[in-house]
Amino acid sequence: MATIYHDNDAHIEVLNNRRIGVIGYGNQGRAQALNMRDSGLDVLVGNIEDDYAIQAKSDGFDVMSISQVAREADVLLILIPDEVQPAVFEQDITPHLNAQDVLCFASGYNIFFRQIPLPDTIDVIMVAPRMIGQAVRQLYEKQEGYPCLIGVDRDASGNAHATALAIAKAIGATRLGAFESSFEEEATIDLFAEQMLWPAINRLCMLYFEKLVDRGCDPDIVATELHLSGEFLEIARAMITEGFFKQLKLHSHTSQYGQLSRGDRMIPDSVVNEADAVLDEIKSGEFAKEWKAEQENGLPTLKALWENVQAHPLSEAEARLDDLRRIVAKAHLDT
Ligand code: NAI
Repeated sequence: MATIYHDNDAHIEVLNNRRIGVIGYGNQGRAQALNMRDSGLDVLVGNIEDDYAIQAKSDGFDVMSISQVAREADVLLILIPDEVQPAVFEQDITPHLNAQDVLCFASGYNIFFRQIPLPDTIDVIMVAPRMIGQAVRQLYEKQEGYPCLIGVDRDASGNAHATALAIAKAIGATRLGAFESSFEEEATIDLFAEQMLWPAINRLCMLYFEKLVDRGCDPDIVATELHLSGEFLEIARAMITEGFFKQLKLHSHTSQYGQLSRGDRMIPDSVVNEADAVLDEIKSGEFAKEWKAEQENGLPTLKALWENVQAHPLSEAEARLDDLRRIVAKAHLDT
């Protein structure tokens, strides 16, 4: 059972007299910077000169270069994409860190897989919202919380855990709950969803399309049934509102019987073994090594994989039905 911390367990005062530097003003950066400022903290924004920096200025923040904020702030929230963090640290952050600084990440990847070398004198913590940035801001404004994971990689000060909780409170997460976790756990659950769960769902959707079209069904009708009707979204929504299994009750008895009686056959032992192999590659760092090499080589495999899916007949059916897709998307998202 997870340990979950709430507002009463966290003390924003831990951050008194400490300047907060938010590095990056994108999805998470904007939401977290605004929430922390509204929680009474002294927040600087460090950004490259782009549209995000313009947005931060128009939201009333002092915006400086990343290296300047690394020098001036005591607690740095690293909210730029994971892929660019190693190079940005090497050039703009690590040379300007002071002893006793705190680095707070919103993802476990770069620290668990040791992609960023760091000095021993600083605290390295994680506060990772399980929520998109826009909702991080909206839920804070409505005084509702959202889940986040917290963890400590390096506790040089003896206060690292209290600081993580203070940040989780200042960004509004402890109103619902901050779960005790770790960089390893966050990176693992994230990558395993990306490498096992979503690709299995994607691949099964493609198989559904391919088999029915092979057996004479019209590709446009199959694509409409598969995802363009929006049923997928309604099932996902019901999993949250009703519960993962209880949402089955919204389906007919025929559907319930079909789903429950055939499910195990869709996941034979070979798939279970592959899931273990993918998890082993994640936990051993083999995937992180492969991904680093792919990026250094200019993403040749990723580009080839994209070409494959764009040429799939499902993509062609979807292009023919683009107008329908837009109308259905609007109807579902407006409800
Ligand atoms: P994002 O893609 O919205 O980041 C945009 C920001 O990064 C902008 O401020 C931009 O100026 C800056 N940036 C982009 N390339 C840069 C470069 N080469 N050098 C310097 N700055 C650069 O990032 P997002 O999605 O907010 O992710 C930030 C962190 O939060 C990541 O660690 C991510 O894993 C984590 N996270 C993201 C969630 C989300 O909702 N997107 C949810 C939970 C965690």
